[in-house]
Amino acid sequence: MKIIVQPNYEALSKRAAEIVREEMEKKRNIVLGLATGSTPLGLYKELIRMHKEEGLDFSQVTTFNLDEYIGIDYDDPNSYHYFMESNLFNHINIDRENTFIPDTNVEDLEAYCKEYDRLIEEKGGIDLQILGIGVNGHIGFNEPDEELKVGTNIVNLTESTIQANSRFFDSIDQVPQNAVTMGIGTIMKAKQIILLASGKSKHEVMKELIKGDKITTQLPASLLLLHPNVTVILDEEAYRG
Ligand code: PGA
Repeated sequence: MKIIVQPNYEALSKRAAEIVREEMEKKRNIVLGLATGSTPLGLYKELIRMHKEEGLDFSQVTTFNLDEYIGIDYDDPNSYHYFMESNLFNHINIDRENTFIPDTNVEDLEAYCKEYDRLIEEKGGIDLQILGIGVNGHIGFNEPDEELKVGTNIVNLTESTIQANSRFFDSIDQVPQNAVTMGIGTIMKAKQIILLASGKSKHEVMKELIKGDKITTQLPASLLLLHPNVTVILDEEAYRG
């Protein structure tokens, strides 16, 4: 696991965007795994800037998002479909046919989860996966538990995640309790992974992860210690607390 500490959130976002750009330049039809939440916003802003000012080309790029809530309309600003449109896709030249976000409005969700993994494989697998991390160590919505699912799956969100995500909703009761997330195995199959962490609230979990001496399903991000190509980019606040 390569650890890069940046002085602040802006520098972290720029560094992440540089890596994404480098990989996009190496492979024009790259398959990117994308995350939502506050942390990747600066990265997406920088990629949009690179597209607008420097002609970074997304026309051949395919994307797969990590997760989506269950029981949310996609025109709800809190849905991850809406998030991706407003924070990235609307501002770059990506072909919407090549963007995939778990569709939680289908009738047979379990079958759909299998289909999502199959589709990722069909597109050649994820070349570069962007991850945030929950204060509880989740990646995607793979929450700390006795067991973690390998493939894309349906999850019950933990109290800690519902609490953390309630900042985006009018009240905590409105936060969906369930979601579909890529599984740990789906994430681990990505050829390269960048995990981003910013701010004091992530310090405790990052301290544990960076220690790097054990893996446990109670800290889902610790499974990344087994992956051969992970870069962690964090800011001083996340690093030092
Ligand atoms: P955040 O969420 O970027 O909004 O902190 C990260 C996560 O829960 O994975």
